[in-house]
Amino acid sequence: MPDALIQMREISKRFGGVTALQNVDLDANAGEVLAIVGDNGAGKSTLIKILTGVYQPTSGTVRLGGQAQHFASHADAIKVGIDAVYQTLALADHLDPPANLFLGNELTRRVCGIDVLDNKRMREETERVLMDRLGVRLKSLDAPTESLSGGQRQAVAIARAVYHDDLRVLVMDEPTAALGPQETARTLKLIKTLKAQGLAVILISHSLDDVFEVADRIHVQRRGQCVGVVNTADSSTQEVLGMIVGAKEDT
Ligand SMILES: Nc1ncnc2c1ncn2[C@@H]1O[C@H](COP(=O)(O)OP(=O)(O)OP(=O)(O)O)[C@@H](O)[C@H]1O
Ligand SMILES: [Mg+2]
Repeated sequence: MPDALIQMREISKRFGGVTALQNVDLDANAGEVLAIVGDNGAGKSTLIKILTGVYQPTSGTVRLGGQAQHFASHADAIKVGIDAVYQTLALADHLDPPANLFLGNELTRRVCGIDVLDNKRMREETERVLMDRLGVRLKSLDAPTESLSGGQRQAVAIARAVYHDDLRVLVMDEPTAALGPQETARTLKLIKTLKAQGLAVILISHSLDDVFEVADRIHVQRRGQCVGVVNTADSSTQEVLGMIVGAKEDT
């Protein structure tokens, strides 16, 4: 098997006296969905915050395509094609979807020697990314994002991440936690679409139903350590639940 696109090795992270992660290895391949599961406080978010440059590991290494990475910030991770969509989407709710997609990177055109916002192109690009990459069409691109449903807002946040054409790894932390069944189904479909486009998708979820529907492999965290990685096709919710709670131990 070729080396994985993402290779995290012996990652440890301490916050003062709290050990959030201890010697965790994680591999994620292009064109696969890797789920990370585990109880509250198991270290899932901390692990992916290290991958996305939000936190720096106390020790351990992160490789992308075989190259060691040293992210000083989230912006450094985005530069090499690693981005994340969090449950709290970080959208500007009062702005419409195109404004959100291009926030801080607005497209402009020159009129009589001065740069003005190119709203038409930003709308067209937003429509194109939503449709071509995610298969999503919004009824209106003019309404503030706060008027959209949870699933639609999610699509806008994902579109913003994939708009970076060199995006290779997308991390999603609890993307369906606040969604109803229909919107959850749509988000899972989006995840499959992104996987088919060759992205490595890393999905943190408490819903084993979701995980078993979309993930190829499942990385199980328990008390800051990885207690195993299973192929979804060879495993069961029962087995994974047992790993999450440590059913094999006496304690
Ligand atoms: N910024 C921080 N400062 C101090 N401790 C932290 C910090 N972030 C996380 N921790 C601690 O690290 C451990 C792992 O937390 P983390 O948020 O990674 O867990 P999680 O698996 O994402 O949990 P959840 O399912 O509740 O989101 C916890 O004990 C938590 O209290
Ligand atoms: Mg978390």
